[in-house]
Order: sequence, then C-alpha cells, then structure tokens
Amino acid sequence: MTSPIRPLIEGYDFIRRECERRGTDCFELGVGPLTVTCMRGPEAGTVFYSDRFERAGAMPRRVRRTLLGEGGVQGLDGEDHHHRKALFLSLMTPDALDDLTTITDAEWDAAIARWQARHEPIRLLTDAAQVLSRAVHRWSGVPLAEDDVAQRTDMLHALIDTPARVGPRHWRGRRARSRADRWAADLIDDVRAGKLEPPAGRALHAIATHRTRDGQLLEPSVAAVELINILRPTIAIDRFIVFAALALVEHPQWYERLRTSDDAIEPFTQEVRRHYPFFPAAAAKVRTPFDWGGLHFPAGRLTLFDLYGTNHHPDVWADPDRFDPERFFDREIGPFDLVPQGGSDHESGHRCAGEWLTIAQINLALRVLTRRIDYTVPAQDLRVSHRRFPTQPASGLLLTDITTRTPTEA
Ligand code: HEM
Repeated sequence: MTSPIRPLIEGYDFIRRECERRGTDCFELGVGPLTVTCMRGPEAGTVFYSDRFERAGAMPRRVRRTLLGEGGVQGLDGEDHHHRKALFLSLMTPDALDDLTTITDAEWDAAIARWQARHEPIRLLTDAAQVLSRAVHRWSGVPLAEDDVAQRTDMLHALIDTPARVGPRHWRGRRARSRADRWAADLIDDVRAGKLEPPAGRALHAIATHRTRDGQLLEPSVAAVELINILRPTIAIDRFIVFAALALVEHPQWYERLRTSDDAIEPFTQEVRRHYPFFPAAAAKVRTPFDWGGLHFPAGRLTLFDLYGTNHHPDVWADPDRFDPERFFDREIGPFDLVPQGGSDHESGHRCAGEWLTIAQINLALRVLTRRIDYTVPAQDLRVSHRRFPTQPASGLLLTDITTRTPTEA
C-alpha cells in the first residue's frame, strides 16, 4: 500500500520500525506523486520545523474534515501563521493557566462528589473528559448548560476519536465536525451581535474580536474552527490523564512518591507525555527543494515527522521503551527531543499552543489521583493498541470504591 496515510493506518511504530530496519532516520515510502518522506529524531526535527516546509494543504483531507477543520492556524504559514498563533499564545499567560487550574480543581471536587453518590464504576476517560469540558467551557467564556454537558463533550470528543478511522466511525466524526462548526459559528455571530457577552480576554471574546493582519474579523467559519481549537484539545487531555492513571497501575512504586513529593509530579507528567502514544506524526509539504539525509526533497513532497518515534529515539532516550520519570529530574528539555505536542518553538513554529496548559492539567490530575481520592482498579482490559489512532487503554480505565482522603492522609 502506498497511501500517504499508511503510517497513520499502520500505527505508531511504523516509521520507527522502518527507520530501524533501514538503519536511517529518513526514508521514502511509495512511488511517483504519492511518495511520502518519513523522518524521526531531533536532527530531522530541525529540518522539518524550518522554512523549507509549509503547512498549507499538508494534512490529509480526512483529518481536516474531522480533527482540525478548515482554515485554522495549523494550515497557515509565514506571517499569517505568526499573527494567528499570537492570538492563541495570548490566551496562555501564567495567570490564565492558573485560572483554568483553579476552575478544573473545583470541577474535580464536584466530580468526586458525584462518583461517590453513584456507587458504580466510573470510566475515567469519560469522566475526565467531562471535568475538562466543564472547565474549559467556563474558562473560555462559552455557555454550557448542565443538561448539555454529556452531548457537547461527546460532540467535541468525536472530533478527536475519528480522523484515521474508516467507515461509520469516521463519518460520525465528519457529522460531529459539521455540527460543531455550525454551533461555534453561531456563538461567534452572537458575540459580534452583542447577544452574548463573554468576559474580555476569554477565548470566545478574543477569537470573535480577533482581526487578521489586514484588519478584518475572521470569517465566522474560521473563528469557529479556532474556538474549537481551544475546546477540543483541552478535552483531549483526558487521554493523557488516563495514561497517567495507567502508569500508576503499571508502576505502583511511584504512587507514594507522587503522593508525598511535589518534585516528582512534573517529571512523572513529562514521562507520561513521552512514553504513551498520542499523536503519531506531524505533516508538512516541502516549500523549496533541498537534499538532506541522502534524500532529495522535491517541492510539494508530503513529509511526516514521527513524534512518537522521536520520543523513543534510542540515541536520545536511554532504554526508550522503559517508563522512567527519573530521566526528567535533571534533564533540560530541548526543542526537538520531547515532542508529543510538536517540536521547535511555540511562537514562530507550529509547536502546540496548549502544551503548558496540558502539563498543568496532567499535574493537577495526578494530585487528584494520588492525594484526594482512594480507589480500586478492578480487573479490566488495559491493553493499549498501537494500531488505533488516537489510542487509549481498551477499557477507558474503570475505577471503583472511590472515597475521598481526609486532608491529614494527603
Ligand atoms: C491533549 C493534549 C495535546 C496534544 C497531544 C497536542 C498535540 C499537538 C500537536 C502534535 C500539534 C501539532 C504540532 C506540529 O504541527 O508540529 C499541536 C498543535 C496545536 N495545538 Fe495541541 N495538543 C494538545 C493539547 C492542546 C491544547 C490543550 C490546546 C489549546 C487549549 C492545543 C492547541 C493547539 C493549537 C492551536 C495548535 C496549532 C499550533 C500551530 O499550528 O502553530 N493543543 N498540538
């Protein structure tokens, strides 16, 4: 098969395995116009995240029709990208992130109270998504009625869950994208018409009033995509939270350390982001022809940078498949080595605008899981398929017997 999305279909280990088999960090796949170049590792990262590449039209259509939408920051280049990216980064100040942490903290407490009243197993993937959803709606200034929580969260979740699928599940993602785009565009219209007044500085207000470089408001459909670019990925942190909980199950020796030592929390979070598979690769097209790594890169060539493979590159990470938060205790993280959310820098490159937010949310969830509650992890299927994108423990991680710890126990 020479499809450009073969690496996505074949799973997280495909590029890494091919690199190891061929003894290189860079190889071509397919023939003729369908050829794709695949790369991994920090050195490849410096090439991939340079002006030799552009993002316009690089993402497969099926990913744009579900996960990303059309017209958003991910597909922009040069000054237009820089200007739009600044909008996202303006929402990520330390104060704004603290604010979201405080809001989410309260949502975890409310969720714990609901769990205890329920007396039945909770599925952490589902419940964490709802905690994050409630929090990010409030933080962004987007109304969310209690009765709409499950449905709205499902709609945004479907965008994450379906891009690389085929058949009915992919179409579920496409329908969710159309619904979400229409819903978010209506919100933008309401703000512009004065029918809805989100606080200044909140994402909904900032995006609805954002002006392009030539002073125009964003098209409502594009503003909708950018608003969803805040809501959707924040809810997607549920997967990292579930992987963090899985890591506690698989490496119980860390539990006590996290419970009692603040210093251990962030290294554990970073190792969760490095170790477990999430986004397999970033995609770009060659802007100007060049040669690198013994290969020619003609203009327009689709190129995939293996994020998961770079996080497991044996030249960068000792014993890369071992889960070991110790590696982050005294490590300075470079721009191209730990890349679960993209490489390079946040301002000028396409590195994830929500990376600090994500780290803060996983840190918080670890505190909740180790200090605020006790729980049992019953027998269940915790296998993580490397052929499903994006993947998760099969069960979604069920927890039972949830009780709150008293403050003296924490
Ligand atoms: C759930 C955890 C997350 C993962 C795994 C993730 C992953 C990524 C990846 C792989 C990219 C593309 C990097 C590239 O093209 O080189 C990206 C870009 C982006 N992410 Fe995230 N992300 C996450 C959370 C977030 C959050 C919480 C937000 C916002 C609240 C966010 C907003 C964005 C935006 C706006 C971009 C586009 C940046 C650009 O094109 O310049 N992400 N993310």
